[in-house]
Amino acid sequence: MTTSPDQKKTSSQHTSGMWGGRFTEATDAFVAEFTASVQFDQRFYKQDIAGSIAHATMLASVGVLTEAERDDIIQGLNTIQTEIEAGQFNWRIDLEDVHMNIEAELTKRIGITGKKLHTGRSRNDQVATDIRLYLRDEIDSTLATLKQLQMGILTLAEQHTHTIMPGFTHLQTAQPVTFSHHLLAWFEMLLRDSERLQDCRKRTNRLPLGSAALAGTTYPINRAYTAQLLGFEAVCENSLDAVSDRDFAIEFNAAAALIMMHLSRMSEELILWTSAQFKFVQIPDRFCTGSSIMPQKKNPDVPELVRGKSGRVFGDLMSLLTLMKGQPLAYNKDNQEDKEPLFDAIDTIRGCLMAFADMIPALVPNIDIMREAALRGFSTATDLADYLVKKGVAFRDAHEIVGKAVALGVAEDKDLSELTLEQLQQFSNLITQDVFDKALTLEASVSARDHIGGTAPKQVKAAIERGYVRIENLYTPAIS
Ligand code: ARG
Repeated sequence: MTTSPDQKKTSSQHTSGMWGGRFTEATDAFVAEFTASVQFDQRFYKQDIAGSIAHATMLASVGVLTEAERDDIIQGLNTIQTEIEAGQFNWRIDLEDVHMNIEAELTKRIGITGKKLHTGRSRNDQVATDIRLYLRDEIDSTLATLKQLQMGILTLAEQHTHTIMPGFTHLQTAQPVTFSHHLLAWFEMLLRDSERLQDCRKRTNRLPLGSAALAGTTYPINRAYTAQLLGFEAVCENSLDAVSDRDFAIEFNAAAALIMMHLSRMSEELILWTSAQFKFVQIPDRFCTGSSIMPQKKNPDVPELVRGKSGRVFGDLMSLLTLMKGQPLAYNKDNQEDKEPLFDAIDTIRGCLMAFADMIPALVPNIDIMREAALRGFSTATDLADYLVKKGVAFRDAHEIVGKAVALGVAEDKDLSELTLEQLQQFSNLITQDVFDKALTLEASVSARDHIGGTAPKQVKAAIERGYVRIENLYTPAIS
């Protein structure tokens, strides 16, 4: 049976009330589903409603809506929010996205006034506003979880300023370090992550609303007022840019990728350290699983999964960059694809950071095994060279002398501290009994690195103190 254009138009108006006027046939059911985003953008219903309330409030303040209309809109939106939160809202795929679902429901409830809400606005500036509001909240909660993890690291570090482990370069024993010093390296990485998020928050916290579809609007709007109502620091200055810009999301995903890269490096160390070959630390059982076949296994699942999940967050960053690179100004439907990679990055780092915030302070280092490992591998060889330099030997010569002493140690399977004074004196008669206390003990080695950034326990304690202050200075509590 064939349908006349008029019959089709009726059906189109039924399915797409928001733009039925121009269309002569209904949106194909597959296309409706294919172009819809409500399945995933309903997650920012709260921001959408907050944005609409602010918009209506501003419109009333400039006389575009009456106060009664504003109040009806606000009341209607608040009821809708309550229903969404109670799980009673019927999300309709034919209404495409969160914006149209909420607006259609509002109109159903309050009639023609509901249709006035979209005055001077477009979904283009609406969605840009919603994502910024949503991301701003997520940045705040990510910062809070990061802070928890940073505090956990400092707490563990406080207990181990005198615990000595081998420090590595090329994964070969290099020089002894304190375990706290190693933990504080993690702390520094994560503190930069917080700084990056705070910086990205500044550029996220700008208001696109008022840009309308792309060129602005003919109504006498007050964008500064809308910005103030929503807690934005400023308005986006160019309407074309405002509806098309997703830099803030890319910046966030870049910061998220760096967070994952850091967590993945930490994971790699934990996986090595918990192996039977290292045995430097134990991860409490509650963070691990066993094997269904090998009874002895206790697998470091949490760090392994975190290391594995870094890939998807790097991918999320690449998705957003690729999404944007070919787009002419201003808004294009491509931008609907911004949400899933952003949400995925948000969700993934949240889970990983929460797992780490719980796990890190619960780590149990095997102090004796770490110390034993630091005693192997000639970790104090540089200290012996420095000892000779302090007695007047040029560093390159000292390096040569110690190299020979190490060769003897290798041949005799002994650490430098296990060679006798006579054996050491074969290589330089400047070596005296004090070498054992001043250069060849692990404690002497770490304590000698006594400057800011060094591994000496005294320095590490001071760094921990500063760490607490630095976290406090960095962190901005959530606005909402
Ligand atoms: N769902 C859309 C998005 O996520 C909202 C904006 C649609 N604008 C438009 N002109 N089709 O980007």
